[in-house]
Amino acid sequence: MPPWLTQLLYLVAAVLFIVGLKRLNTPATARRGNLISGAGMLVAIFVTLLDLGQVNYTVIIGGVVVGSALGLTAALSVQMTAMPQMVALLNGFGGGASMLVGAAEFLRLYQAGEEIATPTVTVMQLSLIIGAVTLSGSLIAFAKLQELMTGRPITYAGQQFVNGLLFLVLVGLAGWQVVTEVPLIGPFYGVVALALVLGVLLVMPIGGADMPVVISLLNSYSGVAAAMTGFVINNEVLIIAGALVGSAGVILSQLMCKAMNRSLANVLFGAFGAVVTAGKKSAEGLTVKSITAEDFAIQLAYAQKVIVVPGYGMAVAQAQHQARELADLIEKRGGAVKYAIHPVAGRMPGHMNVLLAEANVPYDKLYDMDEVNDEFADTDVCLVIGANDVVNPASRTDTSSPIYGMPILNADRARMCVVFKRSMAAGFAGVENELFYRDKTWMLFGDAKASLSKLISEVKQV
Ligand code: TAP
Repeated sequence: MPPWLTQLLYLVAAVLFIVGLKRLNTPATARRGNLISGAGMLVAIFVTLLDLGQVNYTVIIGGVVVGSALGLTAALSVQMTAMPQMVALLNGFGGGASMLVGAAEFLRLYQAGEEIATPTVTVMQLSLIIGAVTLSGSLIAFAKLQELMTGRPITYAGQQFVNGLLFLVLVGLAGWQVVTEVPLIGPFYGVVALALVLGVLLVMPIGGADMPVVISLLNSYSGVAAAMTGFVINNEVLIIAGALVGSAGVILSQLMCKAMNRSLANVLFGAFGAVVTAGKKSAEGLTVKSITAEDFAIQLAYAQKVIVVPGYGMAVAQAQHQARELADLIEKRGGAVKYAIHPVAGRMPGHMNVLLAEANVPYDKLYDMDEVNDEFADTDVCLVIGANDVVNPASRTDTSSPIYGMPILNADRARMCVVFKRSMAAGFAGVENELFYRDKTWMLFGDAKASLSKLISEVKQV
């Protein structure tokens, strides 16, 4: 294949990546965006294979068949609530692949006894280190989310010092490899082993509610590792794709931190959620009012303006279809229903959008926090379905609360607020929710799906 054609097709692939990424911006175009980016990757792979010329297609096709079968099975069987750990695994594989390509290239040159040019050996070290950190860090993130190990931060005295020391030794070994003229096998193995250990140590002290941010950050690392590998093997499209993933991951991590009012450094080194003592306001002396589906149905049936606030519990209960059915019923009776989406509701970015899209809720009914927050005050009924932290008013006033400063949905300002949950248990941040004790709040206890189903049949009878 002439080099100009390779470059041209790589450019086409890069444009497809960028257009696809842009379309992931809104739920309405996200599906197509995914396909467009996928098509870009297909072009990139074919062009690379043709460009390489002599490759063993039997092995490649075998790999594609086995890989696709595994990927398809995993994608079809994964529960929506288990999506974060699936993404963690995929990031890990990305990082691992970059590490393996970097290692294979190093070993090839080592065995040939060739000197490696300084720029190449430098990016090779980066590809090995970032790839290995991503691989082992993502596996720990997976194990935490899959509850194969404790999801709480694991901390010990001097942890930052140990991590810092390990990092310095790692940089020292990589630097040695860079300055020496012939490839050294000892530092090579040292770099890979220490980077794998570092990945484990970096993710250990990060706790449950912060895991999505870590996963997004590891996603970014996997992109950077791929870009470095692109430099190692001189593949432009890998550099571009890696840079896109790297920057998108960082932007997403920042957005999540902003939505939780935390800094990235605090997420990475703050061991948030280890033991929540400060800000854990006691609910002693306060009482909650509960309501039955029968009683609530009467009020809901005549509501003119309703806002639904979905949260993690709706995902657990898989209650999105019932939520939509109830909204349809209210609308048929002349009421208007909007869905208020908090940027970190659930356990992954866009979690609620995906769930509601699955239940065919029209996109134009989903409102971002900033768009809808002023509307709660003139809302007749707010249904908080399995959400907790994202509607906790303590974040406005309680300076000692771990969620102080996190922007929240103004569910407490609605004329009536009904919270669907199973118990008085805390949300992910582990703090008491003042909303549940407010005058205008009623609790509808039980599994969200069961409660909504009961409510639907009751509203039908009103
Ligand atoms: P949470 O605060 O985690 O609360 C979820 C609530 O759902 C719980 O209080 C639980 O109460 C209830 N629940 C669980 N299963 C249920 C079921 N079957 N039926 C009814 N209710 C059920 O959820 P949220 O308000 O969505 O907040 C998300 C949290 O995750 C925030 O702290 C956020 O900072 C954190 N986080 C999210 C992200 C992203 S990207 N989404 C990233 C980082 C951190 P019961 O056990 O009493 O039922």
